[in-house]
Amino acid sequence: AKPIRVALLGCGTVGTEVVRLLTDQAGELTQRIGAPVELAGIAVRRLNKERDVPKELLTTDAAGLVTSDDVDVVVEVIGGIEPTRTWLLDALRSGKSVVTANKALLAEHAADLFEAADASGADLYFEAAVAGAIPLLRPLRESLAGDRITRVMGIVNGTTNFILSAMDATGAGYGETLEEASRLGYAEADPTADVDGFDAASKAAILASLAFHTRVTAADVHREGIAQVSAADIAAAKGLGRTVKLLAICERVVSDGTESVAVRVHPAMIPRSHPLASVNGAFNAVFVEADAAGEMMFYGRGAGGAPTASAVLGDLVAVARNKVVSGRGPRESAYAALPVQPMGNT
Ligand code: HSE
Repeated sequence: AKPIRVALLGCGTVGTEVVRLLTDQAGELTQRIGAPVELAGIAVRRLNKERDVPKELLTTDAAGLVTSDDVDVVVEVIGGIEPTRTWLLDALRSGKSVVTANKALLAEHAADLFEAADASGADLYFEAAVAGAIPLLRPLRESLAGDRITRVMGIVNGTTNFILSAMDATGAGYGETLEEASRLGYAEADPTADVDGFDAASKAAILASLAFHTRVTAADVHREGIAQVSAADIAAAKGLGRTVKLLAICERVVSDGTESVAVRVHPAMIPRSHPLASVNGAFNAVFVEADAAGEMMFYGRGAGGAPTASAVLGDLVAVARNKVVSGRGPRESAYAALPVQPMGNT
């Protein structure tokens, strides 16, 4: 069969792993997809950086690459809102399927991206955008599409979970634990997006949109980070048989007979007997409740080059398979939108 030609945007930790997996598993992937997958080009900001990928594929012309007739699928691991949004919209409008790991972009502009995908019949997959390697978004979008999800509640930020788990284990305060997390490489040099809950809020918006087949943006999410959690709070929680976790909570709410969606991110005291209480360190886990399926939990690695690349590759296989059979994944632009409760941020 005709090869599926892939443009990769970004060649950092995740991009390099994507190239490695594509190369190492080329034979098996060809069998699974029914056609070979080939890299058409890799768009990067600077050409002269040291990278472990074929140099002849590198280009700084992302805009040209995403609209090239030689490309069937665009895989985006470059991040940021602009110009990434424009590149992905251009790709979708020209009928190219898009696989992206960009949670901030999806949490703000998913509606536009879905609309562009549905208009041209292209696929838009983004498993890596929430909870890294954990298969979660496709289960919500596809496996549970016949059920009615009532609640999604999860630990979707590894940095803050590492800090809270360490505070629980050692009794130390927030400041010194954050310093330790930075020293060990578990927290970014600028940890704001993680500790203030922005990262979790973007992920919550994406989870709520898929779980409830509606549109939720990061701005709709009530958000509170972990900077105010003290050693005394953790000790008090312990005294009550509880532990503190930063939770992203997405719920259907019915008031006065009207259904709406409420989405929030905040530290919560949860009983030690709850499955989420034993999720420690940099791990992620998401607890889902649905009418027919009941309760289930998804658990695994939420970050890191190889785990994130695993999710990206899974999506790439799915969209490539769809290309081979001229089919496509679920449409999202035709939601029967549920109202989203205005929460206001603290
Ligand atoms: N900073 C994020 C985390 C990375 O700590 O979970 C994965 O999105």
